[in-house]
Amino acid sequence: MGLQLTLTHDSLDDIFNKALSSPKLFQTHDALRSDYVPHYLPFRQDQITSTGQTLAPILQASKPSSLLIYGKTGTGKTAVVKHVITKLDETCKTKHIHAEFIYTNVRTAGTEYRILAELATGIGLSIPFTGLALTEVLSRVQQHMRANQLHTTFVLDEIDYLVKSFGDDLLYQLTNTSSNISPAFLSIIGISNDLKFKEELGARVLSRLSEEEVVFPPYSAIELKTILQERAKLAFNPGKFTEAAINLCAALSGSEHGDARRAVDLLRIAGEVAERDGAHQLEERHVRIALQKIDQDRISDALKTLPLQAKLVLIAAVKTNGHEQTRPSSGSIYDEYSKLCQLAGAEPLTTRRISGLISELDTLGLVSAAVINYGRYGRTKKVVPHVTTSVLHQAFQTDLAISQLL
Ligand SMILES: Nc1ncnc2c1ncn2[C@@H]1O[C@H](COP(=O)(O)OP(=O)(O)O)[C@@H](O)[C@H]1O
Ligand SMILES: [Mg+2]
Repeated sequence: MGLQLTLTHDSLDDIFNKALSSPKLFQTHDALRSDYVPHYLPFRQDQITSTGQTLAPILQASKPSSLLIYGKTGTGKTAVVKHVITKLDETCKTKHIHAEFIYTNVRTAGTEYRILAELATGIGLSIPFTGLALTEVLSRVQQHMRANQLHTTFVLDEIDYLVKSFGDDLLYQLTNTSSNISPAFLSIIGISNDLKFKEELGARVLSRLSEEEVVFPPYSAIELKTILQERAKLAFNPGKFTEAAINLCAALSGSEHGDARRAVDLLRIAGEVAERDGAHQLEERHVRIALQKIDQDRISDALKTLPLQAKLVLIAAVKTNGHEQTRPSSGSIYDEYSKLCQLAGAEPLTTRRISGLISELDTLGLVSAAVINYGRYGRTKKVVPHVTTSVLHQAFQTDLAISQLL
């Protein structure tokens, strides 16, 4: 016990001393957070201009056209819209023009009620957390807007989530609001990560919501490089990152997706790896470690959210793989799986269902399954797991029932 205490004490001292003496890599860690909006957004001038032009009528007290923005994740949609409305809000304030700008992320808000509640709060109207009918909230909002002659812009980010979860009724109501409250108005900006989102909207909502449209294309690896260089200059102290590390982050994120969020995340995690390492500079090797870490976290998240039966099948595949010389067949996995079910007190599914679950695990990239044909000896499915026991241990460490099975 005493020894244990001393050890812990010493190792803490080590950690703290290292932190005290190590060269500080980060200057502004927050500049690499995904919700940080930089003042300068390279390669988005066209989109900034179009968005600004669409909203400019607000400065003359007229209702702007509705605006629908779409593009894949990490193409700068949220950053551009926040940048434009912040600037416009500042201009309105200095010129004493009255206008409200309200931003909400629909996915984070979660329910139609919360979305409306955020709009209500944004225009200075307090409504209870729950309990009112949606139509009641909407009519209070409209009445308040009419009475106070408000000129309100409401940004609905990740609007595709709203329509997928709840249909387009609320959007219909919102896009229709201005006709009930004139000369007050509510102008809507919708942002969608899903390019096919428009197909899910009814014709009446679509025509009202997309009077103007702006598309955000993915970034090229070269563009990502410039974006990352700008961010790195803000985030790190001078001389604390190498050009090669930045280039590698850009190349790793640009080749497949053109996603600036992934690139910025990778840079942040690489910086954290380097700092923890006590390194004097962020280098390529830190980026490689960070990439591995991101992949592991992604796998860990996928594992945690599997349904119980799929977890059992995966564990059975990993265990069988350890026992046998050859790649495990679906038959031997099934035997192992049945034992696990007994231990876990779960009712085993049929071999057919298990075969289906193995295919799902394959789709998730957690195993590879292939049918091998032995001619007249029949066919069997061979399964190669892509996770190790230690990865399973790590993912399920807080899930006692499962970690016991390991
Ligand atoms: N042109 C750009 N310049 C600088 N940073 C950018 C640019 N485009 C995107 N980013 C950054 O990349 C990340 C993702 O951008 P975001 O606007 O959230 O993408 P989206 O909303 O399209 O998914 C954010 O950290 C954002 O600041
Ligand atoms: Mg976004």
